Amino acid sequence: MLNFQYYTPTKVVFGKDAEKQTGSLVKSQGCKKVLLHYGSGSVIRTGLLARIEESLREAGVDYVTLGGVVPNPRLSKVYEGIELCRKENVDFILAVGGGSVIDSSKAIAYGLANDFDVWEIYEKKSVATGCFPVGAVLTIAAAGSEMSDSSVITKEEGGLKRGYNSDLCRCRFAIMNPELTYTLPAYQTACGCVDIIMHTMERYFTHEKHTEITDGFAETLMKNVMKSARILMKDPENYEARANVMWAGSLSHNGLTGCGTSGDWACHQIEHELGGMFDVAHGAGLAAVWGSWARYVYKQEPSRFVQFAVNVMGIPYRFGEDDEIALAGIAAVEDFYRSIDMPTNIHELGVDLTDQQISELALKCSFFGKRTIGGFRKLDIPDIEEIYRMAK
Ligand code: NZQ
Ligand code: ZN
Repeated sequence: MLNFQYYTPTKVVFGKDAEKQTGSLVKSQGCKKVLLHYGSGSVIRTGLLARIEESLREAGVDYVTLGGVVPNPRLSKVYEGIELCRKENVDFILAVGGGSVIDSSKAIAYGLANDFDVWEIYEKKSVATGCFPVGAVLTIAAAGSEMSDSSVITKEEGGLKRGYNSDLCRCRFAIMNPELTYTLPAYQTACGCVDIIMHTMERYFTHEKHTEITDGFAETLMKNVMKSARILMKDPENYEARANVMWAGSLSHNGLTGCGTSGDWACHQIEHELGGMFDVAHGAGLAAVWGSWARYVYKQEPSRFVQFAVNVMGIPYRFGEDDEIALAGIAAVEDFYRSIDMPTNIHELGVDLTDQQISELALKCSFFGKRTIGGFRKLDIPDIEEIYRMAK
């Protein structure tokens, strides 16, 4: 087990009616004016935004609103938010939505606290030294941004999707009522479940030994999310399944399932380029590339894939047949993705990649040759190109 730090400062308020506490939670932060930040309309249609506004008014909290965040949140909206907050003297950002809204909120919060162009931190040209406080009312279980140290923003010019990690942006609180996710389209529910599983897999597929506790959390979480996802495809208002998925979403990305392991993260890097270039849903993009990544890398340590196949996917163990078992586990994950209508290749994602696009994606993914990706197996440009080609 590797040395690690585990830091989860976010106060979680979980369960039915949790959003009723929004006003008092924001007020307890001692702020003067709040930016209420939201997406492209779901929170208006469901009436959640009106209820949050009511809760803020009841608590005597002053606020301004800014909607219009889109999936793969855009830098231009972040700039708009920074300008509005400066004009209105906002000192707290409240995200009402999913990962995209929370990430846009975090980027605005960084922009307010640092006196340089906020894109510089996503380009890794500057380091953030501060961040305004952010809180979240979560409406989709997926990205885990409500408890993560991460935010991911897309710069429209050049289609660059880039992430930045720092404890500075961790939400002060996360309000999670599983019932708020009943209105999700099945596609978004499935994308969310894939992302949650992937956040766990990215931490699970490593070479560290003696990580039984972390492995146990990860395996239970993955099995439970797969089971709940299948239930939700038939019964979207199943509270217990929604609740399990929502809690798993936070735990899969708050560091718990990575304690003592180094992590891989290649699939996320490979998907982020697809998201930046083709604006695909993050979870679906991950599902489309995972099987190809897994088949490309599993020989680095087949026994890890065997453990996954047996403990998570229920493949029977047979002595001396590691390769077969590992490959059966990979195929079983793809069967699961198909069972919830997720793609298992990039064509099914609605994108037919040309050779030129594959080269461009791999080049961008390598930060123009400046880095390799992946921990389970280090991947350089030719490797990344091959995975895009296998996933075509
Ligand atoms: O914009 P609205 O109208 O709200 O619609 C959203 C959006 O279209 C809809 N939605 C959300 N809650 C709903 C709902 N529709 C009906 N009822 C509800 N209750 O769902 C769609 C997707 O929302 P989005 O916020 O984009 O989803 P998600 O949480 O998956 O976030 C995706 C973004 O997060 C990034 C991804 O790359 C992507 O940009 N990630 C952020 C991470 C982080 N900060 O830690 C880690 C992840 O790996 C990921 O990269
Ligand atoms: Zn993700």
